[in-house]
Amino acid sequence: MIEITNINKSFYLGGERIKALDNINFKVKKGEFVSIIGPSGSGKSTFMNILGFLDVPDSGTYKLDGVNMEKASDKELAKIRNTKIGFIFQNFNLLNKLTATENIQVPLIYQGKTNSESKKKAYKLLEKVGLKGREEHLPMQLSGGQQQRVAIARALACDPEIILADEPTGALDSKTSVEIMNELEELNKKGQTIIIITHDINVAKRAKRIVKIADGKLYEEGE
Ligand SMILES: Nc1ncnc2c1ncn2[C@@H]1O[C@H](COP(=O)(O)OP(=O)(O)OP(=O)(O)O)[C@@H](O)[C@H]1O
Ligand SMILES: [Mg+2]
Repeated sequence: MIEITNINKSFYLGGERIKALDNINFKVKKGEFVSIIGPSGSGKSTFMNILGFLDVPDSGTYKLDGVNMEKASDKELAKIRNTKIGFIFQNFNLLNKLTATENIQVPLIYQGKTNSESKKKAYKLLEKVGLKGREEHLPMQLSGGQQQRVAIARALACDPEIILADEPTGALDSKTSVEIMNELEELNKKGQTIIIITHDINVAKRAKRIVKIADGKLYEEGE
């Protein structure tokens, strides 16, 4: 489903060039559960942003479901981000003034769903992630783990084919991170493709496949 070939990405800052991704090749099949592990600054988030079409590589090709995405228009990419990919951010990225339910409604309303349709779906998703009874809570009225579960529910709202999670357990205590990983494992068992970034080897080990990024290069576990 994902086929990445020879991707490079550099950043230029104050006349200095930082090579964030160095000739990366990466393939993911439907239904896989992959962890990406690596030290701080190694290029993990840069890679995840490219995987999720939040950023573009300098060179190399990205094929999604057999289609080369290089020539896709902004409009097409926006549609893919909204329908095929669910993003879970490290710091949750929930909207503070919106309730748990409303946060989940946002991507659905972008998709053209009505208020009542999207609300119904948001309630269902909140129940699925164990947050029944917290529908009207604002993010600040929820614990870190509960906020992260709202973020997961939001990522699932548009039934994405792929879930991308950048340090989904980074800000959580170990008990809550086990809960979040159980949630992701459950989803993967039902066929969801999941790619997560983590610093935590115990989190990484929950995935069926581990890849490492070091100095912008990607290695399969065991290489
Ligand atoms: N927008 C940017 N402008 C300039 N340099 C950047 C930018 N984004 C990332 N970098 C640099 O690219 C390298 C890779 O950064 P990236 O955020 O991908 O690392 P990471 O592996 O996600 O690290 P962490 O584990 O700390 O989140 C770093 O050296 C970083 O400073
Ligand atoms: Mg990062």
